[in-house]
Amino acid sequence: MLTANSRKIDEARKAVDTLYSQTTTSDALMEGVTLLLNQHMLKYNWVGFYMLEEGADPPMLVLGHFQGAMTPHTRISLHQGICGAAASSGKTVVVHDVQKDPRYLACSVETKSEIVVPVFVHGKVAGELDIDSHFLAAFTDEDCELVEYCAALVGKRLEKK
Ligand code: SME
Repeated sequence: MLTANSRKIDEARKAVDTLYSQTTTSDALMEGVTLLLNQHMLKYNWVGFYMLEEGADPPMLVLGHFQGAMTPHTRISLHQGICGAAASSGKTVVVHDVQKDPRYLACSVETKSEIVVPVFVHGKVAGELDIDSHFLAAFTDEDCELVEYCAALVGKRLEKK
């Protein structure tokens, strides 16, 4: 049986496919993905991209398009935060309760859970899609698949640059 969340996820995935076909630049796609996920998925309260700064040594994640409140973390190194953990490991990180994760860098007092999914370009991490929720354990396996799907589309578009 389809749950309400499954239905929302299915709708969001279709909307992202439409967005992909109607945009030509990675910039427009990334902006559209943040808007769409923030508006469509009710527990996705902050949605944004951090991209690796070109040529930076040591590597640095820089805030790109986002929806939600301004964050104090506009530049994050790879050994900081959940964001750094996802980028350095090249793996999706889901944190069900941010207060229990010592890596967590606070962005808003309202944030309870977080997901960070790397964006790969030609097999290498180029950035990541970060989502915060005001709800504990907001990100199910299905949510994880949706966010990974969005990140993969952005990687695919970036490969065409
Ligand atoms: N919480 C993130 C920092 C970015 S803000 O959530 C927008 C982290 O721990 O890396």
